[in-house]
Amino acid sequence: MHIDIVTCLPRLIESPFSDSILKRAQAKGLVEVNIIDLRDYATDKHKSVDDYAYGGGAGMVMMIEPIDRCLEDLKSKRHYDDIIYMSPDGERFSQSLANQLSLKKNLVLLCGHYKGVDERVRQHLITGEISIGDYVLSGGELAAAVVADAVVRLIPGVLSDETSALSDSFQDDLIAPPVYTRPAEYKGWRVPDVLMSGHEKKIDEWRHEKSLERTRSRRPDLLGEV
Ligand code: ADE
Repeated sequence: MHIDIVTCLPRLIESPFSDSILKRAQAKGLVEVNIIDLRDYATDKHKSVDDYAYGGGAGMVMMIEPIDRCLEDLKSKRHYDDIIYMSPDGERFSQSLANQLSLKKNLVLLCGHYKGVDERVRQHLITGEISIGDYVLSGGELAAAVVADAVVRLIPGVLSDETSALSDSFQDDLIAPPVYTRPAEYKGWRVPDVLMSGHEKKIDEWRHEKSLERTRSRRPDLLGEV
């Protein structure tokens, strides 16, 4: 998989890809993440990527020309399955959307800033918009990092225990069950006996029961119970 992240603040997004699972996924050649500085596609000597809004009002708007020049350059090198603008108005990100995106080959995540992008970018240059939640961030970079992280960890081979992504919360519309590690008892707080019983079927049943219990009390909406 190849992910291009287009941003006017590249430093904001570099660190999540330079550590841990995302770093290892790139080192193993399972994913390539490129962070592209939109200012490299600016046309004036100040490297401007934004300008005042037509009609007035506070806040700058990201210009179409550097974005178009950047996307044209990227598209001359590969075919993209999706060019996604990160925006609070977009489709709400979910595990199901992460699963769908993890099957794609080439993606662009375009990060907005200031008051957002010129509307013609949204009309003509992108294929979709994603929001990570109903709140406004100062830019799309953190949202792009969230999406890239959730997608990359689903690529086969990225997690060392391949089954572990399948048992994540939300993967089957249930919240994950509680987990424990040593010691078996700490300050009198004991690990449930069943987990130390070695009885695989009973452990699976217990975990499923706990997932249901947790989902019912914390997220009844996932069970259609609200
Ligand atoms: N940019 C600003 N806020 C955002 C959000 N909630 N999701 C995605 N991109 C954003």
